[in-house]
Amino acid sequence: MTDTNPTSGSASSPSLENLLHETRSFPPSAEFAAQANAQADLYEKASADRLEFWAGQARELVTWKTPFTETLDWSGAPVARWFADGTLNAAYNAVDRHVEAGHGDRVAIHFEGEPGDTRTVTYADLQQEVSRAANALTALGVQTGDRVVIYLPMLVESVVAMLACARIGAPHSVVFGGFSADALRSRVADAEATLVITADGGYRRGAPSALKPAVDEALAPKEGADPTTVRKVLVVRRTEQDVDWVEGRDVWWHEALAEASDQHEPVAVEAEHPLFILYTSGTTGKPKGILHTTGGYLTQAAYTHRNVFDLKPETDVYWCTADVGWVTGHSYVVYGPLVNGATQVLYEGTPDTPHRGRWWELIEKYKVSILYTAPTAIRTCMKWGDDIPGGFDLSSLRVLGSVGEPINPEAWMWYRRVIGGDKAPIVDTWWQTETGAIMISPLPGVTATKPGSAQVALPGIAATVVDDEAQPVPDGGGGYLVLTEPWPSMLRGIWGDLERYKETYWSRFEGLYFAGDGAKKDEDGDIWLLGRVDDVMNVSGHRLSTTEIESALVSHEIVAEAAVVGAADDTTGQAVVAFVILRGSHAGRASTPEGAAEVQKELRDHVGKEIGPIAKPKKILVVPELPKTRSGKIMRRLLRDVAEDRAVGDATTLADSSVMDLITAGLAAPSASSED
Ligand code: PRX
Repeated sequence: MTDTNPTSGSASSPSLENLLHETRSFPPSAEFAAQANAQADLYEKASADRLEFWAGQARELVTWKTPFTETLDWSGAPVARWFADGTLNAAYNAVDRHVEAGHGDRVAIHFEGEPGDTRTVTYADLQQEVSRAANALTALGVQTGDRVVIYLPMLVESVVAMLACARIGAPHSVVFGGFSADALRSRVADAEATLVITADGGYRRGAPSALKPAVDEALAPKEGADPTTVRKVLVVRRTEQDVDWVEGRDVWWHEALAEASDQHEPVAVEAEHPLFILYTSGTTGKPKGILHTTGGYLTQAAYTHRNVFDLKPETDVYWCTADVGWVTGHSYVVYGPLVNGATQVLYEGTPDTPHRGRWWELIEKYKVSILYTAPTAIRTCMKWGDDIPGGFDLSSLRVLGSVGEPINPEAWMWYRRVIGGDKAPIVDTWWQTETGAIMISPLPGVTATKPGSAQVALPGIAATVVDDEAQPVPDGGGGYLVLTEPWPSMLRGIWGDLERYKETYWSRFEGLYFAGDGAKKDEDGDIWLLGRVDDVMNVSGHRLSTTEIESALVSHEIVAEAAVVGAADDTTGQAVVAFVILRGSHAGRASTPEGAAEVQKELRDHVGKEIGPIAKPKKILVVPELPKTRSGKIMRRLLRDVAEDRAVGDATTLADSSVMDLITAGLAAPSASSED
């Protein structure tokens, strides 16, 4: 825990006091009248009997090989078991059953590559390809229970790879393509994966980028590291770049699939069989492998996708812009939409390639009716100007979603007016890698939406805001967001570290899941998220750990000490700002602007190599000292004041209260900053 006070709000979130007097709310429009009763009914059923409600959702939305008889076993709390005596297969639910129901010709995926190449994949096509991939994995020695790491760009093959793993009961661990070889190595090692699926590269910002070299580096022998557990690497050909080849280890994806049969019997697994591990940043230097299992996860992914977005699988075209490397891509590109039999757009590239209207062009082209994206993207498009989306027909849009970080009311209003034509409701959805699926969100048929608030726990979910003593705060009060009852898609632990799971989420408030977010309740009892209260930063909706970046910085030979903070940023919500003390012989290097710029570049590149480009600090400030309490804890609150150009707050608890004067005096001298 840091010294952040949730009642004062985070700098990246809307200031509630300023907002409340002008907050407007937008009642559901007439188009949603037909759904209003059904959605209101969900709240009623869930409050009447929560477990029976979830059992009903699990039976209705998921097809079971063996029906379950018990809904929740909480006797091993905080590890839940949902629907535990049922068996099922996730890929069968996402693909085969739609074909069996006569929807084989329905488009599952409209793929659009960044260079403009397209591919239409029906549910029948998906069934064949997933079956081939499952057979190929088996032929390469992957067995039920083995872990497979997936390190791919946004391609149809990414979805196929995940489903092929699920089909044989091999938990996948997708690593975002923007992570470095070092980050990949540690995740592969922690999961003890036996196979990696990657690509030669992908297209990004108009050029092919490479991926395979990072895999080669991550698997190469390294001094001090155990030999890799990986036996095979499957390589998707996307860009035709030359790649190094390790004979006996590397196999082309297209060759392996060509040899494989398109018939495959999905392996029925127990509801609590691991479906995936997804690494996410926590408050320590070591990423946590968040473990999700099959039955409960699928139930809640499908339930939330259907109700939060008011999905009509026969007519809607859905698009979630998240990468499959993040949890949003897992639950709302792969499992939620496909289990619901939706038609969706999958786009490989960036929103500004080859022009800044690319997203809106895609919405017009595919008549997208539901769009799910992150506030950072909305703010970026807002900066580019209304004319760009104004040049496209966006009238097909009927529901807009936001996820990953607090959305400021200005961006919310812009999203509603310019993208949603002042009619499409916005659902601001709060959840986490750990929760597996959406937890707090308006429902478009019944909730009058408020700019900047995620508002209410979904039917079946129990969330509240508590004070330091774990007491629920009254309406109008602030504190910490907690979840008070287990939910089907909750994490089942941290891979290989049950103690860390208990300590991280269940030790702060007894019997309550502590999410790590500050929150307030307004006078109507609606929940407003105020940002993280721990050492986790949120940059462009990506979760980064201050400690992880500090460890990366101090692993560089010229750095003696480092402290990292998330400073408010107009576009990315927060930006990484690092304060470093250089080692004795290097201390003078940053005394000139040129020297400071050089040090900054060297360190930024180093963080890029250790973790990945997303973690590179926007600013690195060389300082003579760091503010510490008497017990040696860095007071990030004071550094945040400096990073955000504010007067430095109360420094009386510092071991040496003159340190802040030293820091601010030193920073009056020129120091470079960088943006990319
Ligand atoms: O701080 C909250 C923020 O993102 C964190 C979870 O990050 P991650 O596990 O990477 O998952 C992101 C996608 C679900 C949360 O602890 N967060 C997520 N959604 C919102 C949000 N903050 C405010 N409003 C949201 N809608």
